[in-house]
Amino acid sequence: MSRSIDLAVIPGDGIGQEVVSEGLKVLSAVLPQDVKLETKEYDFGARRYHATGETLTDADLDALKQHDAILLGAIGDPSVPSGVLERGFLLKLRFAFDHHVNLRPSKLLPGVATPLAGQPEIDFVVVREGTEGPYTGNGGTIRKGTEHEVATEVSVNTAFGVERVVRDAFARAQARPRKKLTLVHKNNVLTFAGHLWTNIFNKVAQEFPEVSTDYIHVDAATIYLVTDPARFDVIVTDNLFGDIITDLAAAVSGGIGVAASGNINPSREFPSMFEPVHGSAPDIAGQGKADPTATVLSVALLLRHLGYDGEADRIDAAVTADLTERAALGARSTSQIGDALAARVAG
Ligand code: NAI
Ligand code: MG
Repeated sequence: MSRSIDLAVIPGDGIGQEVVSEGLKVLSAVLPQDVKLETKEYDFGARRYHATGETLTDADLDALKQHDAILLGAIGDPSVPSGVLERGFLLKLRFAFDHHVNLRPSKLLPGVATPLAGQPEIDFVVVREGTEGPYTGNGGTIRKGTEHEVATEVSVNTAFGVERVVRDAFARAQARPRKKLTLVHKNNVLTFAGHLWTNIFNKVAQEFPEVSTDYIHVDAATIYLVTDPARFDVIVTDNLFGDIITDLAAAVSGGIGVAASGNINPSREFPSMFEPVHGSAPDIAGQGKADPTATVLSVALLLRHLGYDGEADRIDAAVTADLTERAALGARSTSQIGDALAARVAG
C-alpha cells in the first residue's frame, strides 16, 4: 500500500467550498503520521466559467490525471445557464476518466430521521453505470423550435460496458455479509437493452455462486425502496434508472446531508472522484449552515478506494457517533460539525 496520497481538490461552487474544507480537516486528522498527504486545489465551476468561459480543458484533464484521487464539493450556480457546467464539467470528467461505476451507499444511521414509518433497516449500495445509457449525448434535434420538432436521446448499452459494471457489482456483493445483488431495469418494455443487461447479469452470476440474485423492474423498485428497503443489499442498474433511484434512496435514508458517492474507475487507469450527492445549495451558501457529513463520508469512500480501510472505518464510526448524539447537541455550524468529527477520528 502506498503511504502517500496525492489528492486533487475541487471545492467548486456554493457550499462546495465549505464542506470540502471540513472533509479535508477530517482526512488530515484520520491519517497516521507516516502517510504523506499532498493536496492541490483546482478552481473549477462558476467563477472560472465567468472569468474565462472555460469549464474543463484538455490541459485541466492532463493535470487532474496525475493525482491519486479527486475530492469534489459541488459544481453549479444559478448565474450559469443550465446544462453548461453539468455537461461541460461533471459529465465531461466522468466520461474522460471513464468513471463507469457510480457508487452510492445508503445506510440509515442511528439518530437520523427518515420519512418512512418506523426506523427500517436500510443498508444497501447502488452501483449505477456511469458512462452509457441515455447520458452519452447520442441524439439530436431536427425542425427545432417548430411544431414539428423531433428530438432523440438514444440509450447506449454495450456488452463491454454492461459486463464491467455488473462484474464490479457482483464483487461488491460478494464482499458484503448478505451477499445479495439485485438487477434493476425495465426489461419487459425496454427489451433490447433489458435483455442485454439480464443476459450478462445471469452469465456473470455463474462466477459468483455465493451471491444470491434478484431482478426488479425500476418502477417496482421505487415502491420497495419506500415500503421494504431492507430487501436490498447491492443494486446494479443503468445510468438513468440509477440517477433516479439513488435520489430516492438518499431521501429515505436520511437525506442529502449524509449521502456520499464515488465516481470510480475500477481499472485505476484514471483517478476516481468522490463527492457528496448534494449540489452547491445556493440558498444556504456562505452561511455556515451546510452539513459537511456527506462530504466526510465521501472521504471515507475515497480512503477505502485507496486501500486505507482502517481509516475509512474510523471515519464511519465517528459519523455514526456524531449523528447519534446530534439531536442533543443543538444547531452547529458547518465547521463545528467538522471539528467534532476531526476530534473523534483523531482520538
Ligand atoms: P442542492 O443539493 O444543491 O440543494 C437542494 C436542497 O438541499 C437545498 O434546499 C439545499 O439547501 C439543501 N442542501 C443541499 N446540501 C445540503 C447540505 N450539505 N446541508 C444542508 N442542506 C443541504 O440541489 P439544487 O438546489 O437542485 O442544485 C443547486 C446547484 O447544484 C445547481 O446548479 C445544480 O446543477 C448543482 N448540482 C451539482 C451537483 C454536483 O456537483 N455533483 C449535484 C447536484 C446539483
Ligand atoms: Mg441526481
